[in-house]
Amino acid sequence: MNSQTRAGSGPPVPGFPGVVYQIYPRSFRDTSGDGVGDLEGIRRGLDHLSWLGVDAVWLSPIFPSPMADFGYDVADYCDVDEVFGSLQDLDRLIAEAHERGLEVWLDWVPNHTSDEHPWFVASRSSPDDPKRDWYLWRDPAPDGGPPNNWIRHFAHEPAWTLDEDSGQYYLHQFLPQQPDVNWAEPGLRQAMHDVLRFWMDRGVDGFRADVVHLIGKDPALPDDEGDWVGIPRAAFHHESVTHEHLRGIRAVLDEYPGPRRMVGEINLLDPREVASYVADDQLHLAFHFGLLYVPWEAERVRATIAEVDAAFAEVGATPTWALGNHDNPRVRTRTGDEAAARAAAMLLLTLRGTPFLYAGDELGLRDAEVGPGQVVDPGGRDGCRAPVPWTADPGHGWAGRPWLPWPPEPEESSLERQRSAQDSILHLHRRLLTARRDSAALVRGDQQLLDLPGEVVAYRRSDGADERLVVVNFATDEVPVEVGPGWDVQIASDGTGEGRGFTGRLGARQAVLLEPSGP
Ligand code: NOJ
Repeated sequence: MNSQTRAGSGPPVPGFPGVVYQIYPRSFRDTSGDGVGDLEGIRRGLDHLSWLGVDAVWLSPIFPSPMADFGYDVADYCDVDEVFGSLQDLDRLIAEAHERGLEVWLDWVPNHTSDEHPWFVASRSSPDDPKRDWYLWRDPAPDGGPPNNWIRHFAHEPAWTLDEDSGQYYLHQFLPQQPDVNWAEPGLRQAMHDVLRFWMDRGVDGFRADVVHLIGKDPALPDDEGDWVGIPRAAFHHESVTHEHLRGIRAVLDEYPGPRRMVGEINLLDPREVASYVADDQLHLAFHFGLLYVPWEAERVRATIAEVDAAFAEVGATPTWALGNHDNPRVRTRTGDEAAARAAAMLLLTLRGTPFLYAGDELGLRDAEVGPGQVVDPGGRDGCRAPVPWTADPGHGWAGRPWLPWPPEPEESSLERQRSAQDSILHLHRRLLTARRDSAALVRGDQQLLDLPGEVVAYRRSDGADERLVVVNFATDEVPVEVGPGWDVQIASDGTGEGRGFTGRLGARQAVLLEPSGP
């Protein structure tokens, strides 16, 4: 049975039953002394990940790149940038991760390459080059301006750059250094498929596919209509042909034994649109970023969970949940304080579906304050990419001075300090991961949202006789919660009352995981 197939009338089965840990390699741990994290730093971190209890590691891009978008501008899909190490380092990392039962997922960037990729260099060299149509070249509009009104990400500027030599414009939905490729070209598709094969041959277990909803284009590239709707303005450009491309991609994954999984970054607002990309013959998982963008208020969070869960259930799948990543403020910064970040962790790791945990969120890291002279990212996302402090001493376990400033209070939030404090947010994450692994209800159970009054989000997870209740108080004062008798506190976000009967009261911004009381 395929992982997405519905088992009888039972609940949908997750596309990945474990927890995925996202590493932004530049910021994880530097061992070479250049201030940029590297593969060896990740290898040395594997024991931490095993101890924590995650199941897979997704690495943001580690391929050779001019780093205009810090690796999301790929110049060679089948190698490792020397700033991170070598192919051999990656082989070793994969082998040692597998020894610990951890999967390794890479970040595949199928919508655009770097302008320094040999494919684009060839394409740009002449309108007659065989690779010309691997990218999207168009004549200027009659007034000499860009061919349509599309706006690129990161700036309110045209998504087109004029190439003086040929007099044509090329499309780039991100930086000018990130030309969009043309998936309508069979040669390009073949080459992109071969990239996946290259990595699966080396033992890679899965991929995160960057903005994969953008790969299908209407060849007419018509003007956008209407107003921009916030970040997923690219919503205008996703086309049904993308589904066909995803079927081709899935067929490549299915050539390999064992489940080789793909999670797509589908940056669209409507969860039903996002879920339409998840199916037996398309993606295993798709990000809907509802919980990442929604104001952190009980009502909005509850509505988002309901809407996203229902949209995925309709296609027989389960959602993926992320409260942080390398593009958005950290959950601790966004929710305001550590109590709220702890409660958020309870949600993330107990909701139906696949949680993605952004490295450093298990430490409750906050965004770094990045002064005007320290900004390096064209998208203004430096704060959440601050380096992870491993040790409490001033070097924090990094061989060199990091490429970005430390997050606030790096000693207190360091892994070393938190490992030795049983009541730290780090230990909370570990205990939640253990509780999740040990409960069929949490891994794959049904989910029912409860209608409780006040600023409370609550749901019941159940799989046969195995049951759990999760109750999260968003309010800044104590609230009474009526869940009926017979529940013990298995885990409390602040550690209070664990192992005892639930008192029916939740503290300010407190969350609890409840289990049926013993006989
Ligand atoms: C989404 C990635 O998460 C982001 O970091 C990147 O800048 C864009 N895609 C372009 O690749």
